[in-house]
Amino acid sequence: MIPHNRMLMVILLCQVLLGESSHASLIPEEGKKKVSELQGRRSGQSHELLRDFEATLLQMFGLQRRPRPSHSAVVPHYMLDLYRLQSGEAEEAGAHDANFEYPERSASRANTVRGFHHEEHLERVEGVQEEPDSPLQFLFNLSSIPEDEVLSSAELRLYRQQIEDAGLYRDHEGLHRINVYEVLKPPRKGQLITRLLDTRLVRHNISRWESFDVSPAVLRWTQDRLPNHGLAVEVLHLNHTTSQQGRHVRVSRSLHQVPGEDWAQLRPLLVTFGHDGKGHPLTRRVKRGTKPRGRKRNRNCRRHALYVDFSDVGWNDWIVAPPGYQAFYCHGDCPFPLADHLNSTNHAIVQTLVNSVNTNIPKACCVPTELSAISMLYLDEHDKVVLKNYQEMVVEGCGCR
Ligand SMILES: *[C@@H]1O[C@H](CO)[C@@H](O)[C@H](O)[C@H]1NC(C)=O
Ligand SMILES: *[C@@H]1O[C@H](CO)[C@@H](O)[C@H](O)[C@H]1NC(C)=O
Ligand SMILES: *[C@@H]1O[C@H](CO)[C@@H](O)[C@H](O)[C@H]1NC(C)=O
Ligand SMILES: *[C@@H]1O[C@H](CO)[C@@H](O)[C@H](O)[C@H]1NC(C)=O
Repeated sequence: MIPHNRMLMVILLCQVLLGESSHASLIPEEGKKKVSELQGRRSGQSHELLRDFEATLLQMFGLQRRPRPSHSAVVPHYMLDLYRLQSGEAEEAGAHDANFEYPERSASRANTVRGFHHEEHLERVEGVQEEPDSPLQFLFNLSSIPEDEVLSSAELRLYRQQIEDAGLYRDHEGLHRINVYEVLKPPRKGQLITRLLDTRLVRHNISRWESFDVSPAVLRWTQDRLPNHGLAVEVLHLNHTTSQQGRHVRVSRSLHQVPGEDWAQLRPLLVTFGHDGKGHPLTRRVKRGTKPRGRKRNRNCRRHALYVDFSDVGWNDWIVAPPGYQAFYCHGDCPFPLADHLNSTNHAIVQTLVNSVNTNIPKACCVPTELSAISMLYLDEHDKVVLKNYQEMVVEGCGCR
């Protein structure tokens, strides 16, 4: 396992190289200058420092290489809403969708959420003439889920549109049933061998997302490594005979592009909830204060502001949110005698005491004593959207140790 403190170590290293300032960014403009000035003609070293920094972060994030998302990569609103609730941003902006439901149960066991769109190019089986009301097959490529990530649940989200023509359903009693199946064998002659996963009876008269539990199928594909032939969705209209498969449940791209309608956002979305064994699960957060505490102008050990801006390493193309974050660092004196508010240990008190009589023994060090997590939303190497909780990214408290 990679020590999470390494990131803070790298930041502190930068801090040392760039000289001290109470409000530093990772590589501030003047800091860059300072590094190159320090290095003199060997200015390649500041690039080396950045490269090391980048490599360390990637390793910490469990990524093989820096993702380079294509221009067509789409971040589903659902993932953004999840991120906002996760990071406590939603309360501030009130930005999220009104009928967004936070998946409390699924999220409480996961530290990683991934979003997948189906692979349209793999689904068109040539020569197979689809019956208008036969179930539609969806293939999801889940191979980007790392082996050490244990999935706890998965849901298929389908967007259902209100039927405009209310005249057809005078009594507003129109109902339809949505069935979601796992496809067990490759389709032959247009026939699908399936197993029912989830079903719901829904009304015609509202537009909203419906979520279906597809955990058993996704667990068979990932944990049990059984072949993945995809999911099938069937829409049954109960109150009239004419079939309108797919017309108001957005399961396929419309032939006639309706203006203002965004297939990229309304298409089906498979969401997996997993845990890689590192750190705490996702929790709805109320944003904590980011102002450094204890602004007293003394030189004692305390927390200082340090903003890590992802654009400094040119990462704002694949990290969707946040743009950067307040990491803080610990710095200051640990004077004899150690005061209580310096969060010292008995050992630190003894060491400081010994230092006061024998300077060969160093004083206690000012280090982070409490760290907290941040969540990040990013696009991985395969253009898939990932929401992940990273432990020990922010200094909450400093102390003499
Ligand atoms: C699934 O995605 C992986 C990358 O994660 C890719 O290498 C592979 O070719 C894809 N499989 C299919 C059938 O498209
Ligand atoms: C949809 O129809 C049901 C049953 O008639 C009704 O109770 C409900 O209020 C309607 N909802 C909307 C948004 O019109
Ligand atoms: C159709 O609508 C009626 C009310 O108009 C309702 O009683 C019935 O359950 C609905 N479904 C079917 C299959 O008829
Ligand atoms: C000591 O720790 C607490 C809690 O972690 C923190 O609030 C406080 O600021 C710390 N003291 C110093 C001097 O940083």
